[in-house]
Amino acid sequence: MDIFIKAKKPELDIEYYGQQSRFFEFFDAVISDLMKEGGIYAETNSGSNGNAYMFAKKGYKVITNDISEYSYSVAKAILSDDKPLNIAPKYAWLKEYGDTYIKRAAVFASLVDEYGYNSSVPETINEDIKEKISQRIKYFSNMNKNGVRSYKNYNMDLFQYLDHLYENKIKVDVLFMDFAWPWRDGKKTEEYETTTNEYLNVFEESNNNITEIWDKDTVIDNVLITLEKAKKVSKYVLLSNQSSNYPTPEILEINLLVNNFNYIKRHTMLVKSEYEDNLGKNEYFREYLYVIKGDLLNEN
Ligand SMILES: C[S@@+](CC[C@H](N)C(=O)[O-])C[C@H]1O[C@@H](n2cnc3c(N)ncnc32)[C@H](O)[C@@H]1O
Repeated sequence: MDIFIKAKKPELDIEYYGQQSRFFEFFDAVISDLMKEGGIYAETNSGSNGNAYMFAKKGYKVITNDISEYSYSVAKAILSDDKPLNIAPKYAWLKEYGDTYIKRAAVFASLVDEYGYNSSVPETINEDIKEKISQRIKYFSNMNKNGVRSYKNYNMDLFQYLDHLYENKIKVDVLFMDFAWPWRDGKKTEEYETTTNEYLNVFEESNNNITEIWDKDTVIDNVLITLEKAKKVSKYVLLSNQSSNYPTPEILEINLLVNNFNYIKRHTMLVKSEYEDNLGKNEYFREYLYVIKGDLLNEN
């Protein structure tokens, strides 16, 4: 498929860097072809959880994962009835918002709204931010009331997560991977440093061990290691890339093919790049989706 689409406002609309769900129509067209009714759809880097939400709403059994405490809080807030078991807030003001995932997610989204994507968690907050948080508590509570539920949610480094699926014999129909890629010119995406490292250990301490997958010098090797692990747990692995990233699609494709990851299809989607590539350099932004056969394809 190679289409030109008009990006739409996503149903789950939050301040999350790299949110892809405005292209849901494109992902849905590709993924629904590979899924059976009630099948298992999993992600390695759920981010905003916008796609996960839409696929859970469609009736698939959805597994989310992301190393970021922000992303994990959103997943639990909108897709589960779970309450956090532990709270060990980084600063005193966070304690008031630590006992539900809805409140935690509202804090993260409000901080991004107030301070932008490259900011740290403040030691104190003012009344303006408190107001933003209370608005977002209402927003996430309303999303939760829609009753859309996921199958499982993880908050792990993606290597550990894929090993966990394998060791626990959790078999997936489609595994979708949207990495925290570096920019096309090789620079690190600082925004992901914030969502992963700065927004880690905010409400509780974790032993998360982060693979710095977005570093230009390691990204290709890490993609290949991830693909190897991903194939072992799924029927189809879907790898996403964007024209604004390194490796560029051309470089990524060479590395996939010479390492025997022969994608069976390459779908692309084009959109006007205003607000989409975050560089403001190109008129159009292109999303790529590579479909790779997993080892479980021929299993019943
Ligand atoms: C491109 S964003 C994903 C956006 C998502 N597809 C969406 O529509 O919102 C990449 C995500 O990868 C996460 N991430 C970065 N390094 C990771 C790692 N080693 N393991 C798991 N997640 C990681 C970041 O926290 C970020 O949420």
